[in-house]
Amino acid sequence: MNSTEAIKQTHIALDRDLREQALLLLREVSAVDGVDALSEQFVRGLAEPGLGHTHFIVTIGGKLVGLAASDGATTELAVHPAQRRQGVGKALIDATPTESVWAHGNTDAAQALAATLRMKKTRELLVMEISGAALGEAANYSDPAGFSHSSLANAPIARAAAEEKWLQANNEAFDWHPEQGGWDIHRLHRAQKAQWYRDEDVLFLWQGEELAGFHWVKQHSADLQEIYVVGLAAAFRGQGLGDPLVRLGLHHMKNQGAQRIILYVEADNAPAFAAYEKLGFSVAERHVVYEK
Ligand SMILES: CC(C)(COP(=O)(O)OP(=O)(O)OC[C@H]1O[C@@H](n2cnc3c(N)ncnc32)[C@H](O)[C@@H]1OP(=O)(O)O)[C@@H](O)C(=O)NCCC(=O)NCCS
Repeated sequence: MNSTEAIKQTHIALDRDLREQALLLLREVSAVDGVDALSEQFVRGLAEPGLGHTHFIVTIGGKLVGLAASDGATTELAVHPAQRRQGVGKALIDATPTESVWAHGNTDAAQALAATLRMKKTRELLVMEISGAALGEAANYSDPAGFSHSSLANAPIARAAAEEKWLQANNEAFDWHPEQGGWDIHRLHRAQKAQWYRDEDVLFLWQGEELAGFHWVKQHSADLQEIYVVGLAAAFRGQGLGDPLVRLGLHHMKNQGAQRIILYVEADNAPAFAAYEKLGFSVAERHVVYEK
């Protein structure tokens, strides 16, 4: 990067002109790389001061060419496709305060930059997908013997009790997980405030009034839906119930018109990865965290 081009740092949301330039830059980056450089939350942070994100901006001749956003824990960044290999990416990474940097799509350029800066891959999140005949096959569902299913909207026990069991199963299934584990009822209720959330899309597998597992789905659109969170209660693991629990949600989504279903899974979660592969899912995207 030309040494006269300083990085500007701002602790607040971007002003309107910069925000428009940032959104344009992100669109051009997505068009070239085939993946969004900033996740939803970081795009929101460009406009919402309440999220408290810090932004780092590189301009050349008044035009925005590089942008990094940090939430204090992680950083995400993008350099305009026409302004790459001039040191802008390196300068942004040097300037940002966090150790962790997301590389959505883990493009060749991101891998090369990380290698040059001797950054280590510390987390890899995969997007897997299924569609077509494979989806038709995987969406075959019938209740395992002795089990029944419902959604949160028509659970066989009172709503508050069903939510308690859901929470417990969630925390048992994700005690190791950085974002999904250790929830309390307030966190669950906050999640239910998401604009896309519906009680009908939280599916439960019951043995009598005991919750064996839950399968929470997210509808991005009628066509595109997501296995959002699937978890088995500790007492019901090791009984082959993972497969029907996944199929329960796939069946529900297919009935709602899903043509393509995606899910996010940690690359090192070998049992989950193998189970989804066996059902016919394949890897569509890789999202990597590099550590400075
Ligand atoms: C990854 C990205 C940020 C790199 O930005 P950039 O401004 O082109 O990177 P820099 O010019 O600072 O590159 C510094 C060094 O990294 C390496 N590098 C970067 N891109 C490379 C590529 N496409 N091929 C080979 N080496 C590359 C080189 O060693 C380069 O030094 P050099 O040009 O003197 O050889 C940019 O491609 C981008 O915005 N990608 C999409 C978003 C993304 O992946 N963000 C996460 C980054 S971890």
